[in-house]
This record gives sequence, structure tokens and C-alpha cells, in this order.
Amino acid sequence: MTPALVATAVDDPAGLVGLLSEAGLPTEDVTEPGRVFLRYATEGGEFVGIGGFEPLGPAVLLRSIAVVPAHRGHGIGRSITADLMGRARQRGAADAFAFTTEERTFLAALGFRRVERAEAPDAVLATRQATGLCSASAVLWRKETGR
Ligand SMILES: CC(C)(COP(=O)(O)OP(=O)(O)OC[C@H]1O[C@@H](n2cnc3c(N)ncnc32)[C@H](O)[C@@H]1OP(=O)(O)O)[C@@H](O)C(=O)NCCC(=O)NCCS
Repeated sequence: MTPALVATAVDDPAGLVGLLSEAGLPTEDVTEPGRVFLRYATEGGEFVGIGGFEPLGPAVLLRSIAVVPAHRGHGIGRSITADLMGRARQRGAADAFAFTTEERTFLAALGFRRVERAEAPDAVLATRQATGLCSASAVLWRKETGR
């Protein structure tokens, strides 16, 4: 069962750095403008994870999805991703992209498919994740937000 989560916008992304670094995710650019971050808690108020995206017009770049280690394996990553996809769709983005450093990723279980960079809009390829924070060998994933 997908857990019900309560999402709150993060005003101070610097506070996310600890969890992101522990999860092995990029932190260098989190305080730069043009990024949306949310923190997720259970209905009882327990902090369970974070997620974010960069709005890029008709697409978004999903990023910074991390679940508190003790809460992994219970559908929270799936739930956070679904919430981010819904927010992207509400903003008019038809496609979500994400970079991962590994070929095996939970995004595949969520219906994302691996794509070549040529399949991504220029705006995605111009993000800091694409140009520097993720290595050239990073894997790119895509899923329509309405699916
Ligand atoms: C990856 C992460 C967000 C998954 O969160 P989670 O709450 O444990 O994931 P869920 O329980 O929602 O799992 C959803 C699906 O992904 C699969 N999955 C989870 N982690 C996986 C992994 N590392 N590799 C491949 N599949 C994985 C699960 O088996 C599940 O599939 P199923 O529904 O078909 O059984 C979490 O492990 C994490 O924070 N990792 C460190 C940061 C990170 O790697 N973030 C991803 C950046 S894209």
C-alpha cells in the first residue's frame, strides 16, 4: 500500500544537504534559484523523505529524491515520486526526466524508461545536473507525467 504523506515546501534548501549527501546525491546547487524542494512526513508528523524538481517549461527534471534510511522499502520513494509527477503535471509539464549514476534504479520500477540524451529537451541538457554534477556516464530516465 502506498503510504499517505504530507508534503511541505522547503524554504531553506541548505537544510537538505545532510540527507542528500548521506544518500549520495548532489548538493552543490540546491540553494540556486529555479528549484522546488518538498519535505515529506507521515500523517503523524514523522519526517520520512524529500524530493524536488526543476521546472523547465514542458518538462521537469526530477531530483533529490531521498527517503530516510529507516523508512526505505515501504513505498515512500514511489509515493514521493508520484507526488512530484502530479505537481509537474499541474504546472503543465508533460514529461519528467531524471539522471542517475547507476543503471539499476528505483525509477525503472516506477515506469521510467532509459533514454539517450538526444531524446531530452535542451533545457534538461543545460541543467547543472546534466552539465556537471552528474558525470557524463550518468543515465537519463524519462516518463510522461500523465502516466
Ligand atoms: C531510491 C530510494 C528513494 C527508494 O525509496 P524507497 O522508499 O525505499 O522505495 P519504494 O519502497 O517506494 O520502492 C519503489 C520500487 O522501487 C524498487 N526499488 C527501491 N530501491 C531500489 C533500488 N535501489 N534499485 C532498484 N529498485 C529499487 C522497489 O523494489 C519498488 O519496486 P516494486 O514496487 O516493484 O516492488 C531510497 O532507497 C533512497 O533514498 N536511496 C538513496 C537516494 C537515491 O538513490 N535516490 C534516487 C535518486 S534518482
